[in-house]
Amino acid sequence: MLHRISAIGMLLANAVVADASGTADPVAARTLSDRCVTCHDADGPAPLRFDSIEAILRHRQLMRALVDDRAMPPAGPETPLAKVVAAHATPGALTIAERDALLAALASPDAARTAFASLAAAPTTSVASAPRITALGRWTVPATGSMRIRSFSAEVPPDAPRRVRGWRLAAATDPARAPVRFLSLAPDPGRVSRILDETGSGAESMGDVGLVPSGALGALSRTAPEFRLPEGYAFELPRGDLVLESTVEPIGREAELRPSIEPVAASDHDVRTVEAMAARIVPLSIAAGERCERVVHLPIARDMRLVGVVAKGGVFLRGYTVEVVAADGCRSDIARERDFRMNVAAPLVFREPPVVAAGSVVEVRFDLDNTRANPLQPFDPPRAVAAGLPPEGEDAAIVLLVSPGR
Ligand code: HEC
Repeated sequence: MLHRISAIGMLLANAVVADASGTADPVAARTLSDRCVTCHDADGPAPLRFDSIEAILRHRQLMRALVDDRAMPPAGPETPLAKVVAAHATPGALTIAERDALLAALASPDAARTAFASLAAAPTTSVASAPRITALGRWTVPATGSMRIRSFSAEVPPDAPRRVRGWRLAAATDPARAPVRFLSLAPDPGRVSRILDETGSGAESMGDVGLVPSGALGALSRTAPEFRLPEGYAFELPRGDLVLESTVEPIGREAELRPSIEPVAASDHDVRTVEAMAARIVPLSIAAGERCERVVHLPIARDMRLVGVVAKGGVFLRGYTVEVVAADGCRSDIARERDFRMNVAAPLVFREPPVVAAGSVVEVRFDLDNTRANPLQPFDPPRAVAAGLPPEGEDAAIVLLVSPGR
């Protein structure tokens, strides 16, 4: 009896081999690397690694089950506009083609071996020498502990483009091997942040420069190592410094942190300039054990296009919504996130930026959770929280990237 069962097993396995032979599936391989391994590697936020064929074979059935019931990859922020530039935001659900390809590739060990044959060999493409903007100082991230914020000043080199469509993490900052989870950028033409960064090891502070929020020049993240504005739009890059605000997470060993980015130059067509507005809760306080919603209104004085949303927050920010309330009271959803996690967050960029008319109000709701039920709650029992750095403080902000005019 036993023999017969294993014989049938063999037959089934052979059928799959025959079926999958020679069909190294580029869709499955790309989906795995772009949509799973971004988090599931040596020091990603996820507990298991899927960056070798051995690991995939070990976890294949669990992977398949979670893809099948749509638990993985985790849902990204939903934007009802559904026009987020897919490659540059946490994209949420897989497409049907990606899902089918991945399920087929995970169906058997042989199918996995064939589909992911190229996995180990995949070279990382290097980009031609773009000018780099690199933190002046460096900091050693401790092996263990909680999420930290470290802000570095970095000099804009003279050969950097004046108008910038976006950014990418420089190759040295391989996002898969670094403790950086999120890197938000602010211009600092007056170099004021160098005063804070006096030890040359970054400052433990938010990267805002005066009233200019960090994120005003966009953001990069582990899940979106390249950030790009939609076609037609660009940031004006001032001379002086940038402030690179990095959200870091210890990775189990000491790691050197020295953020470095490369600008992506704008083309002659990218004529619209992008600026920033921030929604913040002032003053911020959340009682121990409290879950509350705080609403912030940003009145819009002139017509503008809403180009992107950079959400920032610590462990007490559970979710947010961004809505536009027109002068006639009509509401439209812009973005919402129910399970915000800074370490897997990515900025949103709209492919077709919606118009926000003069006289409307942008309404931002922050869902703040200082209860025991918050899975990221660092304290037991919960303690009162005020504005400040994580993990004791909270500094939730929604930065809107906007471009004046219709
Ligand atoms: C944005 C980051 C991210 C992406 C992308 C991602 N995961 Fe995960 N995954 C996680 C995290 C975080 C956990 C741990 C969840 C927890 O413990 O609550 C996890 C857990 C898992 C687990 C283990 C569950 C368990 O019970 O131990 C599997 C299997 C898994 N993911 C498969 C996948 C697959 C397959 C993909 C691609 C289709 C994927 N994940 C994409 C972040 C991610």
